[in-house]
Amino acid sequence: MSFKIKNNVFWVGKIDWELRKFHGNEYSTHRGSTYNSYLIKEEKNVLIDTVWMPFSKEFVKNLSKEIDLDKIDYVIANHAEIDHSGALPELMEHIPNTPIYCTANGVKSLKGHYHKDWNFQVVKTGDTLDLGNDKQLVFVEMKMLHWPDSMACYMTNDNILFSNDAFGQHYASEFMYNDLVDQNELFTECIKYYANILTPFSSLVDKKIKEVLSLNLPIDIIATSHGVIWRDNPTQIVEKYLAWANNYQENQITILYDTMWDGTKRMAEAISKGIVDTDKNVNVKLYKVAGSDKNDIITEIFKSKTILVGSPTIGGGILSSIAEILEMIKGLRFKNKKAASFGCYGWSGESIKVITEHLEKGGFSIINDGIRALWNPDQESIEKCVEFGREIANS
Ligand code: FEO
Repeated sequence: MSFKIKNNVFWVGKIDWELRKFHGNEYSTHRGSTYNSYLIKEEKNVLIDTVWMPFSKEFVKNLSKEIDLDKIDYVIANHAEIDHSGALPELMEHIPNTPIYCTANGVKSLKGHYHKDWNFQVVKTGDTLDLGNDKQLVFVEMKMLHWPDSMACYMTNDNILFSNDAFGQHYASEFMYNDLVDQNELFTECIKYYANILTPFSSLVDKKIKEVLSLNLPIDIIATSHGVIWRDNPTQIVEKYLAWANNYQENQITILYDTMWDGTKRMAEAISKGIVDTDKNVNVKLYKVAGSDKNDIITEIFKSKTILVGSPTIGGGILSSIAEILEMIKGLRFKNKKAASFGCYGWSGESIKVITEHLEKGGFSIINDGIRALWNPDQESIEKCVEFGREIANS
């Protein structure tokens, strides 16, 4: 499958309907994904990015139906991660001397992955590549968005920004354009992608977007490397990114917990009651972490102003499901969010202290020392949890 996106620019990627886990097991992809590769056929023929390695043979075979591979003048590797560079080894077997344009970090990364001395051409922000027919590609380094090697390129006259991972989503669709797909599904995947991948780099996202906007380039299409192509009001996703990059939060409190014999679960429910009794406008959501999708929970944390994390004490610490999500939370470096802990215990009762320490390291403002309940909470303990919820709502 291939299709024209504008004039002499074609999509030659792969729609992966089967994908359910990405980055190993780190990212759930409920709606599959796409690996978008683009072929420009002007006086010069240019291939922008490829697809994930398992599809490399299929990709090169399909590409050879679009163009005699020897006629590809340049390959652009906007990003070296395997989902975009994975078909390069197969492709370069056919065209070993064709130059590959990428950043200096791109060379390191591509060499690190594939151990090949291809004809690398290093580019930096502002460098250009003539395509003929009065069109150029302009390169823009996108360092840490989301890898040190990341880059975008802009095609003049056709006004297409090839943004690579930025503005993408893990979303398989045969429609392939933002105006044709279900908008709720689309933005659910967009915010999940931002929350799970770009949150730690928000200050860089803000800076880079403002830098690109200050160039006043007309943008008719944003052609990302995952999911749909933005052609209808393409800068709507840029505006969303600006909002998400600036301490984003909704009026939401998320309670995440795990439980062994339902004691900590009962605490979670009582705390929730206290919040809801006090503030009818706040959106309170509860997640039992074990058995829930961790990336969906991370998205809910991203939307929250406050999170409450609960675990019973086990072995002087916390349950492994809570330890896992706290490790993810720490790495994402959320900003402008409050937090507190809770949990029941039978003997030593360290869980709330352990959770609070993790949350502090994760950059959360700690509301208080947390609340714990001995054994299965009795009515008095439950009432204390309700009161704790009231305090949280008022904090
Ligand atoms: Fe889609 Fe960073 O790879």
